Amino acid sequence: MARIIIIYSTTDGHTLEICQCLQQVVEKLNNQVTLVSISDTSAIDLSSFDKIVICASIRYGKHNIKVYEFIKTNSQILSAKPNAFFSVNVVARKPEKSTPATNPYLIKFLKQIAWEPKILAVFAGKIDYKRYRFFDRFMIRFIMWMTKGPTDPSTNIDFTDWNQVKDFGRIISEM
Ligand SMILES: Cc1cc2nc3c(=O)[nH]c(=O)nc-3n(C[C@H](O)[C@H](O)[C@H](O)COP(=O)(O)O)c2cc1C
Repeated sequence: MARIIIIYSTTDGHTLEICQCLQQVVEKLNNQVTLVSISDTSAIDLSSFDKIVICASIRYGKHNIKVYEFIKTNSQILSAKPNAFFSVNVVARKPEKSTPATNPYLIKFLKQIAWEPKILAVFAGKIDYKRYRFFDRFMIRFIMWMTKGPTDPSTNIDFTDWNQVKDFGRIISEM
């Protein structure tokens, strides 16, 4: 049994949902998973875990600044253990931008950090216009219009490939 920590950054909860799915898969394979928000990591002792997974969603082109700070502070211990990172964004709904080698946010992110995650993934996220504030709804609809995505203000689409998430759970268990 491995003790695995998954540290997540989410704004609307979708990345957490992905983590909870991973937790189910990974725990069924006889591991113990601890889910921690990036905002609650100050008291976390990474050395007490066997494997570390970090994940974050994209908002206005960026992962949360706290993710960069956490990686900077902990890069040594991150690199010393089996580890993985995944990004959640809606650009990844496009097949040609859906892999670690082709997703522009992940490519840029990796250039900005000192840590080289051993395992990488990208998951397409979710659009739920009704839950966004006026400005955010306007902006994301505009981004969707530019990238030929759905613009109907009642749209609630989950682009995540949940089988891909489950496969990733198995990869984490084995890493
Ligand atoms: C205000 C806002 C800005 C966003 N900006 C981007 C973006 O620049 N690029 C992108 O691919 N996805 C963008 N997204 C989509 C999110 O990455 C997607 O909704 C994801 O599922 C959010 O995950 P979370 O709920 O864990 O934060 C944006 C979403 C919102 C609401």
